[in-house]
Amino acid sequence: MFRIKKFLVVSAVISPFMLLGTALTSEVTYESHVKKIMAEKCLVCHGQDAPTLEEFKKNKDKYMNIMKGPRMVTYEEVVEFVKGKDAGALMRRLDDGKNRKDGKPGNMYQYLGSTEEERAKNLEIFKRWVGFWTLKRRAELTEEELKLIKVPR
Ligand code: HEC
Repeated sequence: MFRIKKFLVVSAVISPFMLLGTALTSEVTYESHVKKIMAEKCLVCHGQDAPTLEEFKKNKDKYMNIMKGPRMVTYEEVVEFVKGKDAGALMRRLDDGKNRKDGKPGNMYQYLGSTEEERAKNLEIFKRWVGFWTLKRRAELTEEELKLIKVPR
């Protein structure tokens, strides 16, 4: 009995470190994790046939009518919505709303998966990839905050 208790105490102390260990060793990257989710869940509307961000902005109504969002095929195109011209957009759109007063998720959150479990899992991958999850807009982000957005390849 004593042995079992001791084992439980020891594992309760050690396991958080083990979890942290796996989180640190298996870094989430665009190439290894994010690209696949984008291909499966986002590129139907943000794919090769979607307009560039500039083109999208000029003819927003037209593209919204045919359910096309700005193109997010390459790493460079995606990163514009994370820490570039439209910094923070990806985080605002994918957020589950749980840390907001009104609890409202971003309007792209629904596409992260067909079940709550899948959406939560994929959101976690995006969060780990981005490194600094903020709902601020480009203009509100400070230089220091922009530096905290990691998005490793
Ligand atoms: C069914 C089509 C569809 C799917 C699937 C979809 N989107 Fe979108 N998305 C749109 C449209 C249309 C817009 C532009 C309208 C708007 O702003 O809501 C948009 C806008 C966005 C924006 C804002 C771009 C800007 O103007 O700053 C981001 C970021 C985004 N989507 C990310 C994603 C991600 C990531 C996924 C996959 C998890 C995804 N979307 C899946 C149709 C889609």
